Amino acid sequence: MKNYVSASILSADMLNLEREIRRLEESGVDMLHFDVMDGVFVNNITYGLPVLQQVRKATGMTLDVHLMITDPLKYVKNFADSGADIITFHTESESDAKETVRAIKACGVKAAAAIKPGTSADAVCDILPELDMVLVMTVEPGFGGQSFIESTVDKIATLRRRIDSLGLDCDIQVDGGINYDTAPVVRKAGANVLVSGSCLFRADDLTEAVRSIKG
Ligand code: DX5
Ligand code: ZN
Repeated sequence: MKNYVSASILSADMLNLEREIRRLEESGVDMLHFDVMDGVFVNNITYGLPVLQQVRKATGMTLDVHLMITDPLKYVKNFADSGADIITFHTESESDAKETVRAIKACGVKAAAAIKPGTSADAVCDILPELDMVLVMTVEPGFGGQSFIESTVDKIATLRRRIDSLGLDCDIQVDGGINYDTAPVVRKAGANVLVSGSCLFRADDLTEAVRSIKG
């Protein structure tokens, strides 16, 4: 199983986003993680479609869009048209999960479902065969720079066993509090797409940081 690192631009220098993207391209990062928050599903508001369109114009990197919004189904096509390569929605949102997966795939984009730290792995059971990726949140969604929640590790392992026993080709992404100490723990449990924001953007040597997190 191949490991990937997805850089969360929530921690990037927004006034110099293009420069940050160039730095990430040179660092060996595999994807850009784009956190969309609507101030209702989570207590924070970030950026949306116009910024994604600009980022799409600026880079050929895989754009991994994490929707922390109340009704993701309503916006799937807009995010696909704006350049997303992967669209992740939350199972705790108000949209029907099966319909949302189908809508994402109908746009020719990879589909992923996210679960918050308190949500059981069972929440993605029914849709697992249709998913390209499951996102196990390792902090409460809403803010960068939080501490990793240990109790999510067992859930990663449970999902990895389920995916492997069904013979599915489905990545497990983790997001929140991923750093040099927690990356080996989540990789061992079976995660292979590691999102990192504050740890990467704080690093003196970005290339070395990416290499360390990727394992
Ligand atoms: C939190 C976001 C994360 C966040 C991760 O809701 O989904 O992507 O940027 O940031 P760090 O790596 O700093 O925990
Ligand atoms: Zn995220």
